[in-house]
This record gives sequence, C-alpha cells and structure tokens, in this order.
Amino acid sequence: MTAVLRVQDVVAGYGEVEILHGVSIAVSEAEIVAVIGPNGAGKSTLLKAIFGLVSVRGGRVELVGRDVTNIAPDRIVQSGMSYVPQTENVFPSLTINENLEMGAYVRRDGLRDRLERVYDLFPDIAPRRAERAGRLSGGQRQMLALARALMLDPKVLLLDEPSASLSPKMVDSIFEKIGDINRGGTAILLVEQNAKEALSFASRAYVLAMGENRFEGEAKEMLDNEEVGKLYLGA
Ligand SMILES: Nc1ncnc2c1ncn2[C@@H]1O[C@H](COP(=O)(O)OP(=O)(O)OP(=O)(O)O)[C@@H](O)[C@H]1O
Ligand SMILES: [Mg+2]
Repeated sequence: MTAVLRVQDVVAGYGEVEILHGVSIAVSEAEIVAVIGPNGAGKSTLLKAIFGLVSVRGGRVELVGRDVTNIAPDRIVQSGMSYVPQTENVFPSLTINENLEMGAYVRRDGLRDRLERVYDLFPDIAPRRAERAGRLSGGQRQMLALARALMLDPKVLLLDEPSASLSPKMVDSIFEKIGDINRGGTAILLVEQNAKEALSFASRAYVLAMGENRFEGEAKEMLDNEEVGKLYLGA
C-alpha cells in the first residue's frame, strides 16, 4: 500500500499535558479513512498535529514518503495537504470568492482556473461568489470550507467533523461531495462524531480513545464489530 499520509507513533499535547501518546495511522492513495472515538479522545488534536498546528513531540508524519513533521501549515499546504478545521473554517466577513482566494494564498499562479474548477465542483455556491460567507447557511459554509481546502489541489484532505450540526439531508450532501472529491483523486482523512455514517462511507477506520489507537480495520467490518458497536456506536 502506497501511503499518501503516514503518521507514526505521534506524541503531542498542550503545555504540560500530553494528549496523544503515540498514535499511528496511514492513508493510502484514493482511500477514505475515518477516525472515530469518544469526545476528548484527541481526534482534533491528531489532525492539528499532522497539519503542523500543534507540535509533535515524538514520532513522525510523512506525506508521500517525505518527512513533514512539525512543518508549518503554510508549507504543508504547498506539499499537498489541506485541512478543514472543526469550527471557524470560513471567514464570515469575506466574500465567498475572497475565502477561496485565501485558500490559495501561498500560490497565486493559475488562480482563476483553480477558482473556476472549484466552482464547477460546488455549483451551489458559485452564483453567490460576491456575497459574504457569513450569509451562508451552516451547510453551505461547510461546502465553502471544503471548496477552500481544494484550492491547491491537495493529495490528502484532513476533515474534522464536516457533518457536525447539519441537518440529515445536508449531512448526505456533504458526504456525497466528499465522495466526489475522493473520486477526483484526493485521499481523505475524516474525523467524525457521526460514527455509523462515517463507517458506512469510509474504506478503513481507526478508533481513537484516550489518545491511543484502540481499533483499526475495514470500516464495514468495524460496523459489525460487537465491541466497537457497544463502546462507540451506541449499539
Ligand atoms: N487548546 C487546547 N489547550 C489545552 N487542552 C486542549 C486544547 N484543545 C484540546 N484540549 C484537550 O485535549 C483533549 C483532546 O481534545 P480534542 O479536541 O483533540 O478531542 P476530540 O477527540 O476532537 O473531541 P471532540 O469529539 O469533542 O471533538 C481534551 O481533553 C481537550 O480538553
Ligand atoms: Mg474534535
């Protein structure tokens, strides 16, 4: 398996407190990999550590075989990784178009083409490009955040709970869109609270608990795993 992203024994935390105690995951080309686990397990911290927003104190992060451990986000973006945070993932006072331009701030060449390609993928926001992002509904904002993350054509996209607090219909649309993005050749690492939905959608999954790997395997098999079901799926 050619890993686009390989996270090996990553240790990270905030101040004195260690949150991740040696977490390992891998995402291969064209895969959708889900990370599920209870609140406070360290899922968001894991994505932040991968993306250079929280420093990695031990272990290693590799992007297509290249060591990117503790590389700053603006440089990681240039190496082919994008990240959509759990909250505050668009600039409400900027227009939709400006938000997308911000997504490409480290690379200005070919901006117009990339904007048009992203608008093609997100036809719902295209006609509203001159409006402020703050006027969009929750679901449309999430679409914009996805669109922004695609501006630099990432090899791998990190998504932190893209379906949080959306209506069931909007959740479906977001997952559908993530599927489209994946079929376009971008590997996806998806953190989800919505564990059942994530497991039916992803190819493989990891369960994270208390900052450690707890389970990993084929996503569908995990749906049927009694222990995972009891502990993490409310079965
Ligand atoms: N900026 C921070 N400073 C200090 N502690 C933090 C910070 N962010 C998160 N934590 C702590 O780190 C732990 C893991 O948090 P994290 O947000 O990674 O969990 P999570 O699995 O994403 O949870 P959720 O499902 O609620 O989003 C929690 O105990 C949290 O309180
Ligand atoms: Mg989180």
